[in-house]
Amino acid sequence: VNIETTVSDQVALVRLHRPEVLNALSLALMEELADRLTDFDRDPDVRVIVLTGDERAFAAGADIKEMADATPVEMIRRDQFARWDAIRRVKKPLIAAVSGYALGGGLELAMACDIIVAAESARFGQPEIKIGVMPGAGGTQILPRLVGMGKAMEMVLTGRPISAREAERLGLVTRVVPDGLCLDEALALAREIAAMPPLAVQHAKEAIRRSALAGVDLAFERKNFTLLFGSEDQREGMAAFLEKRPPRFTGR
Ligand code: CAA
Repeated sequence: VNIETTVSDQVALVRLHRPEVLNALSLALMEELADRLTDFDRDPDVRVIVLTGDERAFAAGADIKEMADATPVEMIRRDQFARWDAIRRVKKPLIAAVSGYALGGGLELAMACDIIVAAESARFGQPEIKIGVMPGAGGTQILPRLVGMGKAMEMVLTGRPISAREAERLGLVTRVVPDGLCLDEALALAREIAAMPPLAVQHAKEAIRRSALAGVDLAFERKNFTLLFGSEDQREGMAAFLEKRPPRFTGR
């Protein structure tokens, strides 16, 4: 079990739980997560969903061990993006409470939510470039909408993370709270929204997403991401991460 859930006051709390790998998003975890969120979306006792990790990490990205040896064909056959699509179809508001690292797929998962609340020491980044690939779940499509093209370029092309304060200034995060208070703040916000008329809330969410995400082309990003699994630099980048050594990239 990679996910823990509780419900109170019409708010569902969903916690990622693979602490030994900083909540890396394995295929199994993503399947469980999509299933739980889909269940809560149908549950009449739930009006808002809060998604969180632990103090060290919201999530440090897709599970590199699972991807290190994959070919493009293998990546297509895994159909991992079906899970992401299911999460993007959730009609009820999703609030991400982020402490620690939100990197790669972890940041993309936070951006798949509707509102991000961050702890002061949280770090946000798209480090895929450092392991020979690129973001595959919204980092090149949704991030530029939130932070602007230049900043998204800088983050995706250098892999360097930004602080919670900078993320707030850029509009990626809606509020920053002292460490230790992030989940409480997210739950309070969730309860405030849960007290509003559910149909109006869901229709407003749908309308805002349609406007904010117009023109986003996730399929294009997925093709480029998948193609890179045919490169030597992807093999080298991921092997180097797992062997805890610097990579040697050649452009092949
Ligand atoms: N996948 C698999 N395992 C991971 C992981 C990941 N994304 N991130 C961390 N881990 C594992 C580490 O291998 C390590 O395992 P061991 O104890 O067995 O060695 C454990 O979690 C703890 O990590 P570190 O020892 O590295 O912890 P640290 O505090 O020194 O560093 C960190 C933390 C900077 C977040 C570092 O772990 C890191 O850089 N992680 C990878 C981040 C990354 O590249 N994410 C992008 C993945 S690709 C992606 O997400 C594609 C997409 O768009 C869908």
